[in-house]
Amino acid sequence: MAELIDRFGREVTYLRMSVTDRCDFRCVYCMSEHMTFLPRAQVLTLEELAFIGETFVELGVKKIRLTGGEPLIRHNVEELFDHLGALPTLQELTFTTNGSHLAQYAERLKQAGVKRINISLDSLKPDLFKELTRIGELQQVLAGIEKARQVGFQRIKLNAVILSGRNSAEVLDLLRFALDRGLDISYIEEMPLGSITEHNRGEAFCSSQHLRDMIGQEFELIPTSENSGGPSKYWRIPGYNSRVGFISPHSENFCSTCNRVRLTVEGRLLLCLGNEHSIDLRSVVRNHPGNKDKLIEAIMQGMSIKPERHYFELDNEPQILRFMNTTGG
Ligand code: 5AD
Ligand code: SF4
Repeated sequence: MAELIDRFGREVTYLRMSVTDRCDFRCVYCMSEHMTFLPRAQVLTLEELAFIGETFVELGVKKIRLTGGEPLIRHNVEELFDHLGALPTLQELTFTTNGSHLAQYAERLKQAGVKRINISLDSLKPDLFKELTRIGELQQVLAGIEKARQVGFQRIKLNAVILSGRNSAEVLDLLRFALDRGLDISYIEEMPLGSITEHNRGEAFCSSQHLRDMIGQEFELIPTSENSGGPSKYWRIPGYNSRVGFISPHSENFCSTCNRVRLTVEGRLLLCLGNEHSIDLRSVVRNHPGNKDKLIEAIMQGMSIKPERHYFELDNEPQILRFMNTTGG
């Protein structure tokens, strides 16, 4: 059943759900150093998340990604994975993780039906890794990546946000790391979400084309029309299994093929990452517990306000004040 179609004829088949705003890292592009997190009552329960996810699948959603914050630090999150993983028409259940607890969870989540995962990795140098995450231990993340490889997920993708003058010199090292292990890798342009003072986003900007030029000096990059159901555009390097993706919210606007919506950790259905248009699904599920018709009505209303595209500007104060961790990266 393909029911979720917006005013621009785009079919929504992909739901990203933030399951917690908390994280054990404080990445410089994602959070400020001192964050206050939401009180528990404002956060959807696992049961509410399961009910909303299941309803979206009934409305034709084929892919669900659990994100955060760091999804693996939510207590009992595996129960949500089990619930969603058992839905017969959901083709893909996946998640984004910082890898810190992955070694512990990989096997369990594979059993729940997860086939592909994304792991954030911005540096292979322990010191720079710590600087960029403010807390993270590289070794722990590398152990998580190894475990995920052993467990045998179909595809593992590394995500690297590249900041000029910080980790931009590591673009090739990260690529070789991925190629040697048969992993996919996506390079991401930083998005102006939330107000940060740690660095100037305009100065740190590193365009995808610039990265391709750098990579092109060592490797032959062949464009493809491959698609993993998200905003990455993929290139291949002859002789390797890896896909090399670029997520370019600034330089190559991808809104015309947008197939996704996001559920924030507070149950706001966000129709676009770069706009505030949203529908409060938490009040619907709390005022009418178990009432699927009411929930469907609210989701449908969301389709009628999904914006056509985002407008990100690097020079001005961010227009979007929410941080990625509540939004779902
Ligand atoms: N810009 C781009 N990507 C971001 N992420 C978090 N904040 C930002 C931002 N401001 C991404 C990181 C991380 C995922 C959870 O979200 O790639 O891998
Ligand atoms: Fe945590 Fe991911 Fe945000 Fe880093 S980018 S602080 S790992 S949620």
